[in-house]
Amino acid sequence: MPKLTLLFAAASLVVLAGTASSAAAGTIASPDGRITVTIEADSDGVPFYEVSRDGKPLLAKSSLGFTFTDANPMRRNFAIESEITASVDTKWEQPWGERQWVADKHNELAVTFRETGDALRRVTLRMRVFDDGVGFRYEFPQQEGLPVARIAEELTEFNIASEGTAWWIPGGDWNRYEYLYSQTPIREVSIAHTPITLRLEDGTHMSFHEAALVDYSGMWMRRMDGTRFRAMLSPSSRGAKVVREGAFNTPWRAMRIADSAAGLVENDLELNLNEPNKLGDVSYFEPAKYIGIWWGMIRGDWNWAQGPNHGATTKRAKEYIDFAAANGFRGVLIEGWNVGWDGIWFGNGRDYSFTQAYPDFDLKEVTRYAAEKGVHLIGHHETGGNIQVYERQLEDAMAMNARLGIDVVKTGYVADAGGIISCNADITDPCGKEVFEWHDGQRMVQHHLKVVETAAAHKIAINPHEPVKDTGLRRTYPNWVAREGARGQEYNAWGRFNNGPDHDPTLVYTRMLSGPMDYTPGVLGLVGSDGVPFASTKAKQLGLYLAIYSPIQMASDFIESLAAHPRELEFIKAVPADWAESHLIAGEVGDFAIFARKDRNSADWYVGGVNDATERTVTLDFDFLEPGTSYRATIWKDGPGATYETEARHNIAYDTATVKRGDKLPMWLAPGGGLAIRLVPVTQ
Ligand code: NOJ
Ligand code: CA
Repeated sequence: MPKLTLLFAAASLVVLAGTASSAAAGTIASPDGRITVTIEADSDGVPFYEVSRDGKPLLAKSSLGFTFTDANPMRRNFAIESEITASVDTKWEQPWGERQWVADKHNELAVTFRETGDALRRVTLRMRVFDDGVGFRYEFPQQEGLPVARIAEELTEFNIASEGTAWWIPGGDWNRYEYLYSQTPIREVSIAHTPITLRLEDGTHMSFHEAALVDYSGMWMRRMDGTRFRAMLSPSSRGAKVVREGAFNTPWRAMRIADSAAGLVENDLELNLNEPNKLGDVSYFEPAKYIGIWWGMIRGDWNWAQGPNHGATTKRAKEYIDFAAANGFRGVLIEGWNVGWDGIWFGNGRDYSFTQAYPDFDLKEVTRYAAEKGVHLIGHHETGGNIQVYERQLEDAMAMNARLGIDVVKTGYVADAGGIISCNADITDPCGKEVFEWHDGQRMVQHHLKVVETAAAHKIAINPHEPVKDTGLRRTYPNWVAREGARGQEYNAWGRFNNGPDHDPTLVYTRMLSGPMDYTPGVLGLVGSDGVPFASTKAKQLGLYLAIYSPIQMASDFIESLAAHPRELEFIKAVPADWAESHLIAGEVGDFAIFARKDRNSADWYVGGVNDATERTVTLDFDFLEPGTSYRATIWKDGPGATYETEARHNIAYDTATVKRGDKLPMWLAPGGGLAIRLVPVTQ
């Protein structure tokens, strides 16, 4: 078959913004010229792309396309119809985050493919190339040949051109995202959730994920053969995995590309691929720390349900509010306050009321008391995965919270993957027929946005557990402040060394690339149910506040245990939840991660992080500090002989030092250890 020609190529080359692009037809380079992407159709008219860096292939020929449940696949017989280029060089401000300012510098190429047969369908591939990553999406116009797209599967390939190592969790398995990470050769991955992190043989670090997952199904990556992957969309009860009418865009397929682990972490690719803030002023959300009536239920000491061990009583709530007020915690989370927890709620949720409290919990009195003490309750909506029951009450529940001054709500979807209970019609009462969905299928993606938008209308921030993964949507909806979406610290309650010592330093380079996580650090007692120990030293519990970013950070332990550790509590009280800058100053994927972060509201810096099972000495380099200023360092570090393996996990040491730019400080990290340092400028 003859090679299909490029229709209207150079004539339609338009520079929309910034400097002129020198891109040849079908090719676009990053601003620094290191990354090059080519978009083409092969001799069968199969659209494909290739990515190279420094002239070396990163992604070999990777096909593009779709299959549909009621239309011919879009896979072959396509030709390039037109191309448009653009360049952007700007920066934008985050209302809260790991850094205040985000630089967005990229070149863009939008290639429109047109079908050559009778169907004449079109699809545009918009490609953005940054110095540290690539993102592309499909844009479907409104068109006669495809008035409704019922997508059976997306055929986007990621044909990795090198061997290497992958860190990944399984997609399509029952426990959503709550797995320990596997570290395997790339060619041993099966089906993976994104982000999936790769270290190629030449040391290049890559992470594959998606951005702006809106009204579409979440993407898994399925290895087809060798090191070739293909998109696999999360299923839907409707058969077609995605149904869209008229014009629509898919989420961006995103790959971070860096020379080092730090380059993967200090990377804003997905945020830059998202739309700007649609909510306007979100100053009602204050990044802050919180405590809660929570760990006692997770450990099994108290119950969510009614009875003698009910956790959420008026009396206990007031004790927690008192502790929060005395120690400067803005928030108090109270779980199990509402009707519906008696009996089986896992994967059920039919009995939940989101407005009616249990008789031993006086919601009005507790919120009045909190307001008097200057504390805000964090609301809790566990759904058991039943979104039709929740959606029916959503507006009333958010309105009630707003009236009571509850301005952050943690939601929860405890159900097996594929066990989300929905309705086959839109919300009708009663529901037409129950259907079952996936946590990251199109229906759930729609649901989460509905919750976030409803909450925003009441000036409430949302923190979902068992969520859909973050795809940078916090830029567009900045009241979507954190999520769980990984195996959280709660697992340490349920078994000896349940989250092994390498889990935290692996999360930093995998799950955390997608966005903030409500990991619930600060269990200073280091014991779970029946006395099972944590694979963590005490210093690591503090290091987690720097390693695992969230604008809402919990101090998860019982208040009695927090009070019993006054020096550790001093750090937790001081550490900010909002940053002007963040840098990974030392670390390797899965091994360790030390951050330097600058407080958004003062001149203070914080340094610290987490280690895996191998003890090591890290030399901290204080190059990030302001020149000409000395800083008083208060240090919480692993004590002599500390190790997660024995009772020596409790060994913590305290120190002080004076440091300035250019200084270097060796720090020993215990097996399963961590580190936390506060740096305050010394005023002359
Ligand atoms: C699982 C969540 O991760 C946890 O934080 C919550 O307490 C329970 N579900 C109950 O909602
Ligand atoms: Ca969970």
